[in-house]
Amino acid sequence: MNFLEERIVKDGVVKEGNVLKVDSFLNHQMDINLLDMMGAEYKKRFAGKNINKILTIEASGIGIAAIVARHFNCPVVFAKKSKSINLEGEMYTAQVESFTHKNVNNVIVAKKFLTPEDHVLIIDDFLANGCALQGLIQIVNAAGATVEGIGIAIEKGFQPGGRMIRNMGYQLESLAIVDGMDAATGGITFRPQ
Ligand code: G4P
Repeated sequence: MNFLEERIVKDGVVKEGNVLKVDSFLNHQMDINLLDMMGAEYKKRFAGKNINKILTIEASGIGIAAIVARHFNCPVVFAKKSKSINLEGEMYTAQVESFTHKNVNNVIVAKKFLTPEDHVLIIDDFLANGCALQGLIQIVNAAGATVEGIGIAIEKGFQPGGRMIRNMGYQLESLAIVDGMDAATGGITFRPQ
């Protein structure tokens, strides 16, 4: 097991409905040393890629991306979720459906922060159905920028997002891939990496 898998086993809580709570160290209270180790690991996995910008999505991606960005020495842009759609023109927008929250958000990034010169690493905490990632990829493409890779903390391997993104040809690096969870026993099965 790697450091993130070990931490998930130690402090993650499996809930009914295939939900994994990691709010004591990843997406509510944040263990900055852990995020720093994640940044070092992404830096290794994306060695040789000329990344000059990190893109994430509010809310939980922001803290992780900010620490990861120290390892790439580049700025972070976070896509904002917005109900209003009257910002077109200055903004790149994509629609992101959340299966978990059963709603649709417009996701927006100001055009001035994403340009054809940008080589982007996309960072997020969870990959489940992949809707958030699809929206971010759409925005990068609209800007004429390049997706160099995608770094995820926890991929739910039994949901379709990971396969879909890999089939699109992107380098997707998930530090922990959960293939199964049992709320009764708290057991978690990781995909060997
Ligand atoms: P997707 O992002 O891959 O399309 O999946 P989905 O629509 O199912 O996920 C919706 C939200 O739920 C996402 O956060 C995602 O990070 C989160 N999520 C999915 N599965 C789990 C899980 O097992 N545990 C936890 N803790 N979160 C999960 P969001 O609501 O879009 O963003 P945020 O504001 O919470 O960052």
